[in-house]
Formats: sequence, structure tokens, C-alpha cells
Amino acid sequence: MQYSRLGDTDLQVSRICLGTMTFGEQNTPEAAHAQLDLALERGVNFIDTAEIYPVPPRGETYGETERIVGSWLKARGTRERVVLATKAAGRADWLPHVRGGAPRLNRAHLEAALEGSLERLGTDRIDLYQLHWPDRNTNYFGDLGYSHDPDDDPVPVEETLAVLGDFVKAGKVRHIGISNETAWGAMQYLHLAETMGLPRIVSIQNPYNLLNRSYEVGLAEVSHREKVGLLAYSPLGFGTLSGKYVDGIMPEGSRLSLFSDRYSRYSNPEGINATRRYVELAKRHGISPAQMALAFVNSRPFVTSNIIGATSIAQLAENIASIDISLSEELMIGIEAIHTEQPNPCP
Ligand SMILES: NC(=O)c1ccc[n+]([C@@H]2O[C@H](COP(=O)([O-])OP(=O)(O)OC[C@H]3O[C@@H](n4cnc5c(N)ncnc54)[C@H](OP(=O)(O)O)[C@@H]3O)[C@@H](O)[C@H]2O)c1
Repeated sequence: MQYSRLGDTDLQVSRICLGTMTFGEQNTPEAAHAQLDLALERGVNFIDTAEIYPVPPRGETYGETERIVGSWLKARGTRERVVLATKAAGRADWLPHVRGGAPRLNRAHLEAALEGSLERLGTDRIDLYQLHWPDRNTNYFGDLGYSHDPDDDPVPVEETLAVLGDFVKAGKVRHIGISNETAWGAMQYLHLAETMGLPRIVSIQNPYNLLNRSYEVGLAEVSHREKVGLLAYSPLGFGTLSGKYVDGIMPEGSRLSLFSDRYSRYSNPEGINATRRYVELAKRHGISPAQMALAFVNSRPFVTSNIIGATSIAQLAENIASIDISLSEELMIGIEAIHTEQPNPCP
């Protein structure tokens, strides 16, 4: 395993982070524990979860993933060996089961979210507490362009950051991060931290993969200059970049076969076309398409850690092993050629 520094903190996190959002839906608690065991054995010390997991989020399963991670930490006594990241839901009208169906990034909601996560994870401290998505109207979750809403009435970032500052002061949170954010959002958190004497964000968790490199526009510079690295999520574009859906194949039990109505982000015609080209490129170079896609993310200098997801031990082993793969110059030229012709088909 390789490790990198989390922002400007003294924490070293593995460059592969274990994503957990299938735990409690596609993965049983036993299967999830087996994944956590293998990841730890292979040097992964960074675990990402969220209050609303597993996905798709449902009232019946709300908090189940954190409970599964918490039961593993307790059973194995591994709490001090891992850097534990979770997230509070942002503003939403599509989560009827979360805080009266209207979660916000204000004091009352964040306090309730944090207490719930601490309890389910069975810990007295979250190492990285992230805001899952913004409270304001902006472009994320598949929106490439920004459209302004003059009537938007968001919780001010000052208020959200002050609450997070109190969490840090109380010792319940070590570091804070943002997710599904824009360059403006990231710079606003950094600016207010400096002017208000509040904690700095140490990470940005956004989508990043061969089908969506929009992070490179604006945010990559923020990562470098401000030392706030990317925690890249969906590095395989929901599994599509493994090549298993090419030619319309729908493997039984796979995410897209189970939840195709909800998860269409990487299945538009341009994305399917670009995916076919990346898969062919990998095969021509004798490398597995999944490992090529993951090694590409691992190789980006603005990435602190690559948040992988898996539903089987075989997938997990393949994905973790991507850390040992470096892509040849010729392969990188091939990737850039496809990207130039079809940039960000699935933002
Ligand atoms: N902040 C956010 O809003 C946000 C959003 C999404 C994810 N995340 C985080 O990022 C983590 C990873 O996201 P993701 O699950 O979307 O990542 P992903 O890498 O794009 O997709 C992972 C899925 O692809 C399939 N897969 C994985 N490895 C494979 C392989 N080697 N060969 C074939 N299929 C493979 C598996 O699904 P099947 O077996 O079902 O095909 C697996 O669950 C999540 O667990 C979560 O922690 C955060």
C-alpha cells in the first residue's frame, strides 16, 4: 500500500480508501466484515461511510452501514488502526426519513447527525467529518453547468463551519471535509476558516473517473495550492469501467441490474461509447479495464485517496491491487486521446 498525508494534518491515509455504501444492501454484515478484514490486511487504513448509507437510501436501512462498520470496529478492536470518515446529509427533499424529510447543514441538524453517527459507529470521535453535499443550490450530482437561483435561501457557510468548529473543539471530530462541492464552495470554506479562526477543510470528496474528469477544471488547482486533496469517489463509474456492461450485458446482481432506474449517471449513450473505447484500450495493453481505470485515478497528483467500492472479495482484491500498477506512457497517450475526443461524458 502507499500512503499520503490527509490535507495539512498529521494523518497518513492509504491511497486506497474502502468505500462502504453497499454494506447493508448488496453486502450482508458478514460479507462486509470480510471486506474490512481483507482491506486492513492489505494496508488500507481509511474507511469512508455516511449516515444515509447503504444506497439506495431508504428509511428501513438508514444508518445500517455505519452500524456494520461499528460492529466490525468493536469485534476486531481496530478503532485506533483506522482513519474513520463519515458524512452528514446536505439539504434534500428526497430523503423523507432523514430529520423530518428536510435535512439541512444547520446547528440542530448537524448535531443530530453527528450524535447518530457516533452512536452507530460505536466511537467517541470521527476522524474526518464530511458534509455530504452543499446546502445551497449549485451544480453537483451530475450537473456540469451552474444555473443561478436568486430565490435560494441556504444555511450560510459561516453557520455550518462554526458548528463544525464546535465539534472539533469538543473533540468529537478531528478534521472536516466537504463533498460534491464546487471550486467556489471549497474556496469559501477555506476563506472563512482563515478569517473566522475556524478549522480548515482537509479534503474534497467528489466523483472522479475516466468518464468524469470535471474535477480537473478548477478544483484540481484548489487541491494543489491549498493542500486540500481529492478523495475520488465512483472511480469505476458504478462498475461500468470494468467493462462488464459493454454490449448491453446486465450481469445478475450487479448495481445497474438492481437499481437501473436510480443509477443512470454512467449509462448515457456518450458514456457507453467512451467506456467501450477505454475497455478496448485496456485490453489492447493486456491490463484489466477495472485496474486501468483505478490506476489512472491513483496516478493523479491531486488525489489523496481513491475510494473504491466492491461487492465481492474478488473485486476488492483486484481493486486494492491497482495501487501496484503504473500505466505506460503509451497507455496514458491512449487515455488522453479518448478524453480529448469525448471529454467528461458523465459529469
Ligand atoms: N460523496 C458521495 O456523494 C459519494 C457518492 C458515491 C460514492 N461515494 C463513496 O465512494 C465509494 C465508492 O463509490 P462507488 O461504489 O460508486 O465506486 P465505483 O468504483 O464506481 O463502483 C463500485 C461498484 O462497481 C462494481 N465493481 C467494483 N469493482 C469491480 C471489479 N473489479 N470488476 C467488476 N465490477 C466491479 C461493484 O458493483 P456490482 O458488483 O454491483 O457491479 C461495486 O460496488 C462508496 O462506497 C462511497 O463510500 C461517495
